[in-house]
Amino acid sequence: MRVELTEEQEMIRAMAREFADKEIRPIAADIDRGARFPQETVRRMGALGLLGMTIPPVWGGSGADAVSYAVAVEEIAKACASHAVVMSVNNSLFCEPVHKHGTEEQKKRFLVPFASGARIGCFALTEPQAGSDATNQATLAVRDGDHYVVNGRKLFVTNGREAAAALVFCQTDRALGHHGISALLIEKGTPGFGVPRVEDKLGLRASDTAEFVFEDCRVPVGNRLAGEGMGFKIAMGALDGGRIGIAAQAVGIAAGAWELALAYARERKSFGVPIGQHQMVQWMLADMATAIDAARLLTLKAAWLKDAGQPFGTVAAMAKLFAAETAMKVATDAVQVHGGYGYITDYPVERYFRDAKITQIYEGTSQIQKLVIARAVLGEA
Ligand code: CAA
Repeated sequence: MRVELTEEQEMIRAMAREFADKEIRPIAADIDRGARFPQETVRRMGALGLLGMTIPPVWGGSGADAVSYAVAVEEIAKACASHAVVMSVNNSLFCEPVHKHGTEEQKKRFLVPFASGARIGCFALTEPQAGSDATNQATLAVRDGDHYVVNGRKLFVTNGREAAAALVFCQTDRALGHHGISALLIEKGTPGFGVPRVEDKLGLRASDTAEFVFEDCRVPVGNRLAGEGMGFKIAMGALDGGRIGIAAQAVGIAAGAWELALAYARERKSFGVPIGQHQMVQWMLADMATAIDAARLLTLKAAWLKDAGQPFGTVAAMAKLFAAETAMKVATDAVQVHGGYGYITDYPVERYFRDAKITQIYEGTSQIQKLVIARAVLGEA
């Protein structure tokens, strides 16, 4: 594994950093407060090629590698974690599975506009009774001629309100359990596809998290990704890649919080000196810097393995686990360095603290990552 980035990866990092600093950072506090989806900057991210990074140009993407993707997500998350999750879900959980499993026709309709960022997509796996226990799908798709008739409910769908299409996991044969789950591409506006609710969240407030209801929603069989019963494997494969994106997002949140803590430690004085001169603050800053670097290296290792065509799921789970725990710890300590000022909304650090929490929960909780890692090390995966 290369420890330094290539010239092209460095250029992508510089481009993402410049965009994040100039266009995202100035609006981040405002869109968080107003829970406002940043249409304009997401559109600009598409124009810069950030929404279909690993998809070949022929399908509307940038043709970059997974390392570049991780590096770019980190830079975006450092300024605003909401933008980073919009980016990660569109890249990893929508475009990648469509690219990997889609037919030519499906790629024309469901990849080109989404990888280029003209539209955004989403991934609807979670249901009220199926979070960590993702095989426990209840949404039903019953075959009726050349259509499926879909009935059911999906929860916590990132990008759900804004997306033009969703990758929806449904039972096409309940008797087969997870081998009876299929993946359907369903466009917004299809009769029977409703978005009744958007969640009011603790963090990532500028990204939208929606509920879907399907009532006798007729979906052409031609919208099914791969074969009947392949849905759960498609979901798990997409999440292996998604966990690299979320790990990178967590590294970005941690790095952003750390930069704020460092600046504050240099300027804030107590007992006659900047607080960064106090050993207890120094320890916190040193622990933060060390954990962030370790989380970043693990994330880049997972991305590098993916680029090399090697198995990367276990390392992606390790990266997601370690980076999420690091983001939460670093953001907590960054608030601590700020003292009382860290707890008020005048200072940006509290947003990083609120945003960090979800990285321990979505795309598989920290406990699920441990389960995945434990099965792998015990040889049960
Ligand atoms: N790739 C391909 N197939 C995989 C796989 C992988 N990484 N992991 C598991 N599978 C396959 C297994 O091989 C098995 O198939 P077979 O029966 O044919 O062998 C099948 O999936 C079921 O696996 P398990 O028997 O291990 O099932 P389990 O129920 O014991 O465990 C789980 C599965 C790992 C817990 C899984 O349900 C899981 O990852 N849960 C977490 C779900 C999750 O991450 N949800 C995120 C929602 S999306 C989101 O958050 C996006 C967002 O908004 C940002």
